[in-house]
Formats: sequence, C-alpha cells, structure tokens
Amino acid sequence: MTELVQTRGALAAARAAREGSVGVVMTMGALHAGHAELIRTAREQADHVLVTIFVNPLQFGPSEDFDQYPRTLEGDLEICRGAGVDIVFAPSAAEVYPGGEPAVRVNPGPLGEELEGASRPGFFHGVLTVVLKLINLTRPDLVFFGEKDYQQLTLVRRMVADFNLPVRVVGVPTVREADGLALSSRNRYLSAAERATALGLSAALQAGATAAKDGADAEAVLVAARSVLAAAAPDAELDYLVLTDPDLQPRPVSGPARMLVAARVGRTRLIDNMPLHLAVAG
Ligand code: PAF
Repeated sequence: MTELVQTRGALAAARAAREGSVGVVMTMGALHAGHAELIRTAREQADHVLVTIFVNPLQFGPSEDFDQYPRTLEGDLEICRGAGVDIVFAPSAAEVYPGGEPAVRVNPGPLGEELEGASRPGFFHGVLTVVLKLINLTRPDLVFFGEKDYQQLTLVRRMVADFNLPVRVVGVPTVREADGLALSSRNRYLSAAERATALGLSAALQAGATAAKDGADAEAVLVAARSVLAAAAPDAELDYLVLTDPDLQPRPVSGPARMLVAARVGRTRLIDNMPLHLAVAG
C-alpha cells in the first residue's frame, strides 16, 4: 500500500515505521515512464521506496514555467501505487520552506554556472538546496536520479561527496520513446510539429555516438552531431551542443565522454545527453 504524507511530522512517522533500507526518488510530479524506471530501480536496490513530489519554486527563474508546470497529483499517486511505492511525500511550499525562501542556499560551484546554469541563473542553487533539504527530511540510504538531467546528477554526486552526506547516489539511464525522444515532463508542452523538431536532439546525439563508434575523433564527432541537428531540427534554437568527459570537465581526447545538448523548441527548453566512447586520440 502507498502511504501519502504531506507534512514533515507525518513523513518522520512514516519513515520511522520502516525498517531496512530506504531508496528515495525525488520528483516534481507529472510522472512518466522515466520516473517509473527510477522507481523500479529503487525497488530493486532498497527495501522501501519513497517518492517525493514537490514543484520547487527555488529552481525556477522569474520568466520560467513555475505557474504552468503540470501538477497532476492524482495521476502521480496512481502511478506510484502501480509501481509499488511505499511512501509518497507531497508537501506544500510552506512545509518545505516554513520560514519562506531560505536565505542560505547550496552553492553549486563553478560547474553550476555552466551549461544549464549559464542559461538558468540560480537554477542549481535551487536544485541542490531542495535536494539537500529532502535528503535531510527523508533520510535515504540511496537516492536515484535520472541521467536525463546529467548536470543535475553530476552536481548532486559532487554535493554528496563534498558534504559527506551519508547516502549513495544512483544514476539511472534515460528512458526514450521508440523514436529516440528522451522522456520529460515538459514534452507535454510540445505540438506535433515541435515534437518532430525535438527528435533532432536525440538524432544529433546518436549521430555523434555512432561517429565515435566508427572511430571519429572528438572534433569529427561534434561535426557529425551538429550537421544532423541542423538538418533534422532547423527550427530549434540551439543553446549548446558540447562534448565533455563523464564528470562534465573539458572534453577528453579519448576514452569515455558525454555529449550534451540543449535547445529551445517553440517555447519549450529541452535537454538531452548520451554517453560515448572516443577511441582515437585526437
Ligand atoms: O529533477 C527534478 O525533477 C528536480 O530538479 C528535483 C531533483 C526533484 C529537485 O526539485
């Protein structure tokens, strides 16, 4: 049975009633198959699964979609029940931030100013602050984050290491539609034509990964990805398409790497990324 709790007190009681390990999946709701995969992985690795549902105002900029962000608690609970979640913590903003917006926030450091952070100032301060609060409130043994938000996953890992938080971070590979589109709660904003354009992002990453597999060096991998993006998504407003090492440090000349893309399609900002392996020293 899935227990819904909405206050810190009820959460503490529900948490205390569970013996064994607890895996936490943090979400902003609008759950989809990507979240279901996080929950499935959590169930495999922990005795109990706790899902948090909270649209965190701290991580939205003034011109972003906080008000429009889909809030679908009933449907989310249905998914959690079907997926065998033990506890859902769905607090109000006043419950998470009883003193109003916190004056003290987690500073994500230099990586927090790059890529997503460059386009969304303050975004990772907001994300890491709520993740730290939710870790303190839910006291997980393991936390599960999707690789879809790869910079978020990287920064959470960094925060957990830098602050010696007693929790293990588990990254879960991105879930895609059959045609390659990465699942995202924001996909529901896309019209049919915009969705077709959005497919260019995963196609570009796939082209880069294929080029790397065929032995292309870093520069040629980027060229392959850029040309597919330009052809498949001419209407997308590209923010970045970059190749980095797996920790998002400057790109490697060989070995494991990550390619990341962000673009605006219509009014929707989309991100995606893929792992690849650079076989040839450039
Ligand atoms: O990835 C998300 O949905 C959010 O950034 C998170 C981790 C739940 C924090 O609000």
